Amino acid sequence: ALPTRVKIVEVGPRDGLQNEATTIPTDVKLTLIDMLGEAGLHTIEATAFVSPKWVPQMADHADVMRGLKRRPHVAYPALVPNMKGFEAALEAGCEEIAIFTAASESFCQKNINCSIDESFERFAPVVDAALEKNIKVRGYVSCVLGCPYEGDIKPAAVAEVAQRLHQIGCYEVSLGDTIGVGTPIAAKKMVEAVARLVPLKQLAAHFHDTYGQAMANLFAVMELGIATIDSSVGGLGGCPYAKGASGNVATEDVVYMLQGMGRETGVNLNKLIDASAYINSYLRRTPNSKVANALLAK
Ligand code: HMG
Ligand code: MG
Repeated sequence: ALPTRVKIVEVGPRDGLQNEATTIPTDVKLTLIDMLGEAGLHTIEATAFVSPKWVPQMADHADVMRGLKRRPHVAYPALVPNMKGFEAALEAGCEEIAIFTAASESFCQKNINCSIDESFERFAPVVDAALEKNIKVRGYVSCVLGCPYEGDIKPAAVAEVAQRLHQIGCYEVSLGDTIGVGTPIAAKKMVEAVARLVPLKQLAAHFHDTYGQAMANLFAVMELGIATIDSSVGGLGGCPYAKGASGNVATEDVVYMLQGMGRETGVNLNKLIDASAYINSYLRRTPNSKVANALLAK
């Protein structure tokens, strides 16, 4: 049965903007984050404390974190790849972090320059230090339905990495279809395999829409009980280490579908459209969201 309440994790300011070629001013990012908070999103991934040589667009991570107009009951997590990133995040006042690895060895190498095992060696001290300071840790697995370098990825491989993230202390494990190649039955099989090792309540679906499958995939895994969805305002995004990957599923589309099915999200669709219109007009683009375009045309 479909969950009655669905938590949306807005990843636009991080996953959405990380791939933009031109530098987006910090105050534009902060305005976007504030508008997303105004729209009722309670988890807004704000930035990534990664190396600016690897991802230049996230170089202003400390300024973004420090500049947040924090709202009560809103979490502003940031990606952290290693101890150096964690220390910088902490220094900037970050209260929740996300670590990220992959179900594919090749992608892990390209993305964070280490093997999957090495990524866990790097994360272990980060997670220990975070939990000691009461900082919540989320975990990401990339390439759960396919890898740009290795092709098909076995559900068992995803389940193993997800279980390791859960075991080291991640309160939630987000399953990333990084390149958006999945289809609904594959998505279900993958989630079923993971749910044998990690409680469903602690899993999130993080689907990119490269092949237009994200909404169908989301519906399929919600039927299994997945109640946390990562999405990106305006369908912004892509991954610098996954050529051709498009953005995450658009938050507007997810909210519209959930509202139509009578599921609670706490998000005000009109205000969300305002946020989408704001960032897309800055980028001189139309939103990559059917719902946003339909409503903006009214
Ligand atoms: P490395 O080159 O192996 O690291 O990169 P290193 O430790 O050898 O350091 C190299 C240089 O980077 C040094 O500087 C370090 O100080 C610096 P230098 O001495 O040359 O001047 N450095 C840092 N600077 C700032 N912050 C740091 C940091 N760490 C080292 N934290 C590293 C390893 C992990 C750092 C690098 O590969 C990296 O930053 N990768 C991040 C890639 C990334 O952000 N990818 C996108 C996010 S993942 C994603 O989008 C998928 C997801 O959405 C889910 C899905 O869709 O699947 C989450
Ligand atoms: Mg992503």
